[in-house]
Amino acid sequence: MGGLVYFSSTSENTRRFVEKLGIEALRLPIAPGDAPPPVAEPYVLVTPTYGGGEDKGAVPKPVIRFLNDPGNRSLICGVIAAGNTNFGAAFGRAGKIIADKCGVPLLYRFELLGTDEDVARVTAGLERFWKR
Ligand SMILES: Cc1cc2nc3c(=O)[nH]c(=O)nc-3n(C[C@H](O)[C@H](O)[C@H](O)COP(=O)(O)O)c2cc1C
Repeated sequence: MGGLVYFSSTSENTRRFVEKLGIEALRLPIAPGDAPPPVAEPYVLVTPTYGGGEDKGAVPKPVIRFLNDPGNRSLICGVIAAGNTNFGAAFGRAGKIIADKCGVPLLYRFELLGTDEDVARVTAGLERFWKR
């Protein structure tokens, strides 16, 4: 079984989604001055998208900073992206960018704080994913 690492800004939609999963998760710091915590086990990353419809800025800066650490980057196994379907084709774009860059699967996308169905699907999906 691997871990869960997530970023959530002050609007905390992603935090509320992760909380509903009811599994332990490591939250990345929001403040640019705070060093991201090093991870020690394989993990799935959950991140919102912030590009305003563009690729540029889609991946939150604290997530980039976390993944710039080679040790952290070596342990990512998959990504789950949050976003808002109002952004059309750019919905959850951060997930695709990270998946391409890190060579890991984009496992799921959900809107805002997610529905009960999203929670159930991600819970079941993560269990299956770590057993593979
Ligand atoms: C400035 C801004 C830009 C955003 N850009 C995108 C986007 O390009 N694609 C997308 O799917 N969602 C976008 N969103 C929606 C956020 O990803 C969504 O609100 C998410 O739930 C925020 O998570 P958080 O509250 O945990 O930080 C944007 C939101 C803001 C405020």
